[in-house]
Amino acid sequence: MNSMNEDITRRNFLWKALIGLGGMLVAFIGIPVGGFVLSPVFRKKEQRWVPVAWEEDLKLDGPQEIRYSIIKQDAWLKVNAKKSAYIIRKEGNDYVVLSSVCTHLGCSVHLNPQKNEFSCPCHGGKFDISGKVLGGPPSKP
Ligand code: FES
Repeated sequence: MNSMNEDITRRNFLWKALIGLGGMLVAFIGIPVGGFVLSPVFRKKEQRWVPVAWEEDLKLDGPQEIRYSIIKQDAWLKVNAKKSAYIIRKEGNDYVVLSSVCTHLGCSVHLNPQKNEFSCPCHGGKFDISGKVLGGPPSKP
């Protein structure tokens, strides 16, 4: 009777020691691996200038659409993201650069050269060539 109690106690002790060692092993391996895997999510985004056009290719006045691509680091992935913007070149090498992303929900706006305004195909947002809202749901220029 007494030896059976010792046997069960020894077995329980070994089982608990095995669980404890397994937990420590998971913690020793899991914490650094988890930190390595999750670190890109918390990495601060880097902002940098991107050359998009040669000066001599830009016409004076009137918005001109420029298409360019950037290498975008998205957590673990590096993707080649295609972007566009509108550049207005003024006298004296002054430039106005407008994003082509609608301020409502992020669709791409298109230039309507006859009306000299940008229109958004998604919900009918309209902007003048300085980016000011002319109509539709967008509330910000
Ligand atoms: Fe442009 Fe809604 S996304 S009007």
